[in-house]
Amino acid sequence: MTRVSVTVDGVAYSDDVEPRLLLVQYLRERLGKIGTVIGCDTSNCGSCTVLMDGKSVKSCSVLTVQAEGAAVTTVEGLAAADGTLHPIQQAFHDKHALQCGFCTPGMMLGACDLLRENPNPSDEEVREGIEGNLCRCTGYQNIVAAVQAAGAAMSAQTATDAQASAGDPPAALIPAPNAVEASA
Ligand code: FES
Ligand code: FES
Repeated sequence: MTRVSVTVDGVAYSDDVEPRLLLVQYLRERLGKIGTVIGCDTSNCGSCTVLMDGKSVKSCSVLTVQAEGAAVTTVEGLAAADGTLHPIQQAFHDKHALQCGFCTPGMMLGACDLLRENPNPSDEEVREGIEGNLCRCTGYQNIVAAVQAAGAAMSAQTATDAQASAGDPPAALIPAPNAVEASA
């Protein structure tokens, strides 16, 4: 067993884990974060995507011990503490960017990473950015529209925040942790 300390959706955890335990297994089986789903056993589908220190990773291809010291965001940490949807969640809702919803958590987290680097992506850039996330239902058109809408909303919010705080750094695109407390 190896001791690992990791922050997930704003909550700090410290657990003994098998060195071979995959991050997706840790999230689902140990922490109950079942919004992170497993869609393949070949690291191809992207449905298990989470953010690790703001960057999207396929959690089925990361060992839990590799997340030592990291801040992980799952789909369950996207909404604000008061339940307000994250702009990417709102955009997926508004643009009808899902059908069965299986790909949606990973798709949204992958999109967060894409928008962090490119807040105003073209159709082609969105398609390239989410190419590691497969959707068997939607044909991607509405997903592309949702990602672009979320980018516009996040840019507008960042501009508003910057204006309000007059000179302070703009708000991060990744949501603030909901809560921080020791556990396990
Ligand atoms: S479960 Fe398919 S890429 Fe991770
Ligand atoms: S909405 Fe069904 S897999 Fe994407």
